[in-house]
Amino acid sequence: MGAIKTIGLLTSGGDAPGMNAAIRAVTRAAIYNDLRVKAIYRGFKGLITGEIVEFKTQNVSNIIQQGGTILKTARCEEFKTVEGRRQAYETLVKEEIDALVVIGGDGTLTGARIFASEFDYPIVGLPGTIDNDIFGTDATIGYDTALNTILDAVDKIRDTASSHERLFFIEVMGRDAGFLALNGALASGAEAAIIPEIATEVDQLEEVIKKGFRKSKNSSIVLVAESEKTGGAMHYADRVKKEYPEYDVRVVILGHVQRGGSPTAFDRILASRLGEAAIESLIDGQRNILLGIDNDKVVAIPFSKAIKNDKPVDPELLKVLKILSI
Ligand code: F6P
Repeated sequence: MGAIKTIGLLTSGGDAPGMNAAIRAVTRAAIYNDLRVKAIYRGFKGLITGEIVEFKTQNVSNIIQQGGTILKTARCEEFKTVEGRRQAYETLVKEEIDALVVIGGDGTLTGARIFASEFDYPIVGLPGTIDNDIFGTDATIGYDTALNTILDAVDKIRDTASSHERLFFIEVMGRDAGFLALNGALASGAEAAIIPEIATEVDQLEEVIKKGFRKSKNSSIVLVAESEKTGGAMHYADRVKKEYPEYDVRVVILGHVQRGGSPTAFDRILASRLGEAAIESLIDGQRNILLGIDNDKVVAIPFSKAIKNDKPVDPELLKVLKILSI
């Protein structure tokens, strides 16, 4: 493989606030280093169909503060097939794109890894997902913003929960990961968090719920991570309603509101640092790595490691939550 002259850039999977900041950083760092940038629309789907536009610095002006992704995104079934990936490769050859920067979550990075090894093609991945479930990085782009959106919502729900002396189950996103639920609960002063990583029985909840209704505290909030393993907020609410009819129970499913909004300073800085580092890594000859942040330093993790390992939640945090919710 000769020197890289043109890089392709795409976002894929669920959008996350800060993806635009990453697009801006990758584009500007590439142009700064005399590389051409070809933006690929609609993720891997656009790579297969050839939806590609050359970007100049002005294409990424005024986007650092915008949520979503200006490149659009998609979950692409075709890219899971050998034929789909072959078509994607043909597009790259035709467009003379020498390397790819791919911004997305678990599924995106898995696709990138397979493609990179099938075609011996240089790819650098950036972790863009609100779920924070990527191994090797302390944080993913979008997680901090989503967490703050959750806090804003929970603070508001607390007002009405206290006024009516109710028990609320609030379902947050995260697919199979409990980071948003656990840290959202800690930061909002919720009474408990139910996460897929650690099984919670309804009777375990009784103690916590009762604590929420002691004299000085007349409401209870439980954050539940959406997941087949937890069964979601409705599952727990139904059971509590049946087993403890004395509680006035309500459910809120926060849903896609968590994916939108202007990125926080943390996410903008993370995205900017990782985007710039992606270009430096490619120029240095690194490939098939995910860039992440570890102790405030940008780190490179081989795709194989980032994808194979599950990122664990810290069980200590559940303990802290329990202690602080008395
Ligand atoms: O991966 C991000 C995420 O928001 C998950 O938390 C959630 O399970 C999923 O995407 C929802 O995906 P969609 O927007 O395709 O329904």
